[in-house]
Amino acid sequence: MKEQLEQIRAAAKQALSGAATGQDVDALRVRFLGKKGELTAILKQMGSLSPAERPAIGQLANEIRADIEQAVAQRMRAMQEKATAHRLQRETVDITMPGKVSPQGCLHPVNLVTEDLIAIFQSMGFDVVDGPEVETEYYNFTALNVPQDHPARDMQDTFFLGDDLLLRSQTSCAQIRTMETRKPPIRVICPGRVFRADEVDATHSPVFHQCEGLVVDKGITMCNLKGVLEQFAREIYGPETKVRFRPSFFPFTEPSVEVDVSCAECGGKGCRVCKDAGWIELLGAGMVHPNVLRACGIDPEVYSGFAFGIGLDRLAITRYKISDIRLLFENDLRFLSQF
Ligand code: DAH
Repeated sequence: MKEQLEQIRAAAKQALSGAATGQDVDALRVRFLGKKGELTAILKQMGSLSPAERPAIGQLANEIRADIEQAVAQRMRAMQEKATAHRLQRETVDITMPGKVSPQGCLHPVNLVTEDLIAIFQSMGFDVVDGPEVETEYYNFTALNVPQDHPARDMQDTFFLGDDLLLRSQTSCAQIRTMETRKPPIRVICPGRVFRADEVDATHSPVFHQCEGLVVDKGITMCNLKGVLEQFAREIYGPETKVRFRPSFFPFTEPSVEVDVSCAECGGKGCRVCKDAGWIELLGAGMVHPNVLRACGIDPEVYSGFAFGIGLDRLAITRYKISDIRLLFENDLRFLSQF
């Protein structure tokens, strides 16, 4: 029996030294020390020993059990240490490696001029309002005093969506929505996208950007309009900039004007940028037509106002000397990353 016990000890130690995983070690523990294990099987035969032999064999069996238990624990610990070392090695971060640099984005030129424009008008006390891009004929035309037979109402000029809906062809709709919800004094601008059924070329795009402006109060005159626009033009193009009004026509203003600024490139002498005119056409404006005020429940005998509509793409093009409007919509990163 003594020999059998020593054989078990030797077999257990050898098997343990060859165990490759924690599961292997555990299986060996069960095999040698478990209830149905080899050591237990031997101990069960103790009854057949003489009382004189028992103490010595019992002591040896206990010693071997302790020995195998220790060997199991040792092997388990060694394996865990190896696993930890392996994991640490795998998770090592080399802090001397160069980092991954994400390319930095930049603002689109139209957004750049829009942000500047908003800051300039906010400094003059204007609020920024927003309006839907899908509009009804009423807001885009009727309330703005655009006659039923006006060519802009033609399918060729405006994108109609059916059911009285259209893609707004101008931000002027914001005038009506504002006057319906606010009472004078009103001072708002509304920058946004507008849509027209135009062919794409160097100066036209079916989608472009405008900013509407509206001021309504008692005693508003064209002097206020000129003062505000002059201030705006000087902030955008420089303090020497001159502004001139030319008579024009819009259904929603009376009188109506086209506003030019002196060419910032040549100072008015004439150059390539202004096509030798010395002036650059900037926007349309005028005094709000009494019919428009009336459509919004504002008494034109008490209140007056001015409105203007600025083309933001044109503003970006003249400011950054961009030769073709299509560049603004093609999203070529080589172009966009210059701003
Ligand atoms: N809505 C006009 C356009 O798209 C621009 C405009 C002209 C707006 C005169 C105005 C205005 O508010 O008073 O061409």
